[in-house]
Amino acid sequence: MSKLPVPSLTELRQRKSEKWREYPLDVLPLPVAEMDFEIAKPIRDRLIEMLESSDTGYLGPIPELGINLAQFARARWAWEIDPEQVFIATDVGVGMVEMARTIVKPGDSIMINSPVYHNMNNWIRELRCEVFDAPLTKNGQKYSIDLAAIERGYAGGVKAHFLCNPHNPVGVIFSRDELASIAEMAKKFGVSVFSDEIHAPLTYAREDFTPFLAVSDIAREVGVCVTAASKSWNLAGLKCATIVTGHLELLTRAKTLPPALHSRASLLGAVAAATAYECVDWLDSAIETLDSNRKFLANELAEKLPSVGYREPDSSYLAWLDLSSLNLGENPAAVLLKEAKLALNSGISFGPESGQFVRLNFATSEEIISEAIDRIVSLVYNRTA
Ligand SMILES: Cc1ncc(COP(=O)(O)O)c(C=O)c1O
Repeated sequence: MSKLPVPSLTELRQRKSEKWREYPLDVLPLPVAEMDFEIAKPIRDRLIEMLESSDTGYLGPIPELGINLAQFARARWAWEIDPEQVFIATDVGVGMVEMARTIVKPGDSIMINSPVYHNMNNWIRELRCEVFDAPLTKNGQKYSIDLAAIERGYAGGVKAHFLCNPHNPVGVIFSRDELASIAEMAKKFGVSVFSDEIHAPLTYAREDFTPFLAVSDIAREVGVCVTAASKSWNLAGLKCATIVTGHLELLTRAKTLPPALHSRASLLGAVAAATAYECVDWLDSAIETLDSNRKFLANELAEKLPSVGYREPDSSYLAWLDLSSLNLGENPAAVLLKEAKLALNSGISFGPESGQFVRLNFATSEEIISEAIDRIVSLVYNRTA
């Protein structure tokens, strides 16, 4: 296995994706969760083949996606998926919203655990439901799920729980025991758990991750998994995600999803996703590269900005940085963008207590990570000089 190459900054700036189009050229962009690596060759070859033969129509039956996902999940996590219980959606957001729509009605409460992926709030708004926050607890730089707060919310009438496992932005993974407790409480109080597992393939120690539906019979009874190859193999622009059930009752609900949900995903995305689940070597190289990067970032911070809070994530490539000690005002991300020409995600969008945090995407080269840290250092120096 070897580390993945990253194109030069000049080449990256030719990309048309959000990360590279959102900001002026003098800004170094490390926010949105896309990777700078070249995608896996088998995926690229399959897509080129399709384009060369003008195979660019609508998405029809694609049994290989469910089959390949099931094979990947069995080999990676000993999770048995029935390919007949795999449904396709445009992306994870659409999958979460549309599957939730089969269960909740407007006005119902849906739980999140802040600080959490900001679009979960938007999905709940789209459902015309209310957000119920059971925040994570924090001990030093390590966050944990608060089972007592979850129980209070469930007992108080929450109808559904949007669970983010592995967790974006804090990078923790919930244990099998924690997930089993959530499942038992959900069963007791009649709550449906929607487990967003989009970051799972990028877990560093793969045995740390437990798919929610692999936890117990009860978890399968109360839970739905929404996932995609898009984050781990960098295919977000191709638009395809999967909804997975493991129980007859939820399967019956999934069968009531709008038929158009399937064809609103893209043919290229579904073929790319099916191919991705076979590209395990590439995934392992990506994990090796990211593992090196998360440590590189730790060293950079220790050397140049030792007061910044950082815990190496257990999964994926998002660093959750506590900048409180730098005294950058109410919105450090805005100051960094304006004065350091560095684009990071602002912590406040992930939760009300996270105003002093920023999220930095380290799925890039060491040079770019180093440049980002140097821009923060110069800003701090200039402000205190
Ligand atoms: C936890 C989580 N869910 C969903 C998404 C977005 O997925 P999609 O583009 O498939 O809706 C992201 C993107 O970063 C994410 O971090």
